[in-house]
Amino acid sequence: MSQILHLTSERCSLVIKVDRNAEIIHWGNRISQIDEDLLLATERPVSQARLDVDVPLSLVPEMGAGHFNAPGIEGHRDRSAWAPVFKVVAVEQGEQQLVFQLEDQTAQLLMSVNIELDYATDVLKKQVSITNIGEQPYQLGKLSCTLPLPQHAVELMTFHGRWSREFQTQRLSFSHGGFMQENRRGRTSHENFPGMFVGSKGFSEQQGQVWGVKLAWSGNHQLRADVKSDGRRFVQAGELLLAGEVVLEKGESYSSPEFYGCFSNSGLNGVSERFHKYVRENIVSFPVDKPRPVHLNTWEGIYFDHRPEYIQEMATEAAEIGVERFIIDDGWFVGRDGERTALGDWYLDETKYPDGLEPVIAHVNKLGMEFGLWVEPEMISEDSMLYRAHPDWVLGLEGYHQPSGRWQYVLDLQNDDCFNYLFERLNDLLTRYNISYLKWDMNRELVQPGHQGSPAVHGQTKALYRLVDQLLAAHPEVEIESCSSGGGRIDFEILKRTHRFWASDCNDALERQTIQRGMSYFFPPEVMGAHIGPDEAHTTRRCHHINMRGMTALSGHMGVELDPVRASDEDKAGFKRYIALHKQYRQLLHSGRSFRLDTHDERQHVYGVTDENDLLITVCQLAMPDHALPAPLRISCVEPDARYKVTLVEMPETSFQLMKQRPSWLDKTLILTGDNLREVGLTLPILDPESALLLSLERI
Ligand code: GLA
Repeated sequence: MSQILHLTSERCSLVIKVDRNAEIIHWGNRISQIDEDLLLATERPVSQARLDVDVPLSLVPEMGAGHFNAPGIEGHRDRSAWAPVFKVVAVEQGEQQLVFQLEDQTAQLLMSVNIELDYATDVLKKQVSITNIGEQPYQLGKLSCTLPLPQHAVELMTFHGRWSREFQTQRLSFSHGGFMQENRRGRTSHENFPGMFVGSKGFSEQQGQVWGVKLAWSGNHQLRADVKSDGRRFVQAGELLLAGEVVLEKGESYSSPEFYGCFSNSGLNGVSERFHKYVRENIVSFPVDKPRPVHLNTWEGIYFDHRPEYIQEMATEAAEIGVERFIIDDGWFVGRDGERTALGDWYLDETKYPDGLEPVIAHVNKLGMEFGLWVEPEMISEDSMLYRAHPDWVLGLEGYHQPSGRWQYVLDLQNDDCFNYLFERLNDLLTRYNISYLKWDMNRELVQPGHQGSPAVHGQTKALYRLVDQLLAAHPEVEIESCSSGGGRIDFEILKRTHRFWASDCNDALERQTIQRGMSYFFPPEVMGAHIGPDEAHTTRRCHHINMRGMTALSGHMGVELDPVRASDEDKAGFKRYIALHKQYRQLLHSGRSFRLDTHDERQHVYGVTDENDLLITVCQLAMPDHALPAPLRISCVEPDARYKVTLVEMPETSFQLMKQRPSWLDKTLILTGDNLREVGLTLPILDPESALLLSLERI
């Protein structure tokens, strides 16, 4: 007998029809009550010259049931049981959760599908598990999570990127065929971020129905969006398993990564705002609830040139400009004089630090700053003591030569001796020194990821999680940054055990504007590492005034990435000013609702953050303005009847090239009601390319 199940959240409904199989028939706006006739009302016709029965788009679509698109499960048992068809045998309904038990007695497989809908954020979480109950092993090829979308979801926004250019977006039409992304790089990757958006025609930051999805996984994945020839459509994501990677013996199970989804009626802002809230409440957890400390990271300041007295001088200057956490990057461990050597030898280089690391840390702490250290635990250099002692610890395949990446190889974390060595080294560092922060880097892809001859991206990824978890269990006060040549490992699963991301190795403020915007769709500002770099960016050689650099770093988890000793007094004054500004608004920036406004000029970014009362808005002119005059800034996220005190907080100090007369309000405080701000708007000054301003709106 068919029945209908209904999960609701504050603004969202998930309606599921359960028969022999289960099918989501609505994921979208909240429905207050389900009518009895909905079962009949949603019965589909059967079209001519096709299968004689209706084929539901089930929770895990099966080829054997007549689903001709990407199935949710693939595998075989010695060439049998390769087209399983499941039957629902039990459903448990909790307040915000449904658990479906399914079985296929012919294929000797059990499946369970767990769906949770978070009330406060409307974020949906789906996970599928499979258990082999047959005598012979089951070779699993794929187990993915599928979510259906309505026919009016006709546009896609997907992500692409590369090193130093993460989180780029593109728009695609979604009417026929579809989109598919495969990540085979062994880490989340710069190229294939495991998330995307689908929406109604022309959806934008502020308008339209939008569904956002995100796979929580740091290894290989497949992410796709498909339109069936009958017009029905779905998104699907799961781990991309290599041949023979998951073999289930009798009684063994495999669970897919968690797949998160969120629907909103109010454009991309609605989805990202809810993802942020979900991340804050359910994914990231800081050891101590305190303001995110402003960083200085030594990398672009001194690279491998470590001299403790000089580093102490840097620390003194750092404290002077307002830094709260000082991090020594790559180059501190024995034999590490360049990028070709010593990874794996996690012992202090005593020729560089003859008196140990303690005096440096004591100096940093005395200045009131926390101390952090860079590590890259998963890696090994061929020229290292570790490699000379244990060449067999490399993740690889016997009989082949694999290419190195940044002159290094990956360690096999499923090798217990290797795992224990890494734990011992990291544990020793955290025990020996007063380290409150690790920058955990991972600088190459996995090529030939073999453990004892078998494919091992899955096992390697799980072992990485285990290593971090074990370390945090021993040192719960420590925070970790997930870095992977910049933004190569940014995802929800790694964020469950880390506290910050290094968004990109590209510190060019102009490039950062786009990278950070892309990242902001899924991650709240407090986990997005954003640093002021030197005036000439090391990755692009583009030069930026401190206004552009400071304003771009201001709204993330702020830091500086340069040598303050060599900086001019004028530059230092600039760092100090933007750090102070960040601290002044940090509470709002790191707890408020972030938004992006649609602009007429595509060369302009307008974004901000708000709580119940205050708003902080950044306007950044990326390139030459499209027109001679900027469009008035109409601010939609204010209360129509409330009154606001509007002030300009920050703007480029240099003389303007494109503007000869400033609007006089820039030097005043305005009092405006919400509906004036929403409907008429605020006239902006003409910003030169690559500059930004900051506005504050205080509700009175
Ligand atoms: C990677 C990181 C950088 C820096 C270097 C050190 O590239 O992304 O921030 O830590 O490694 O080698």
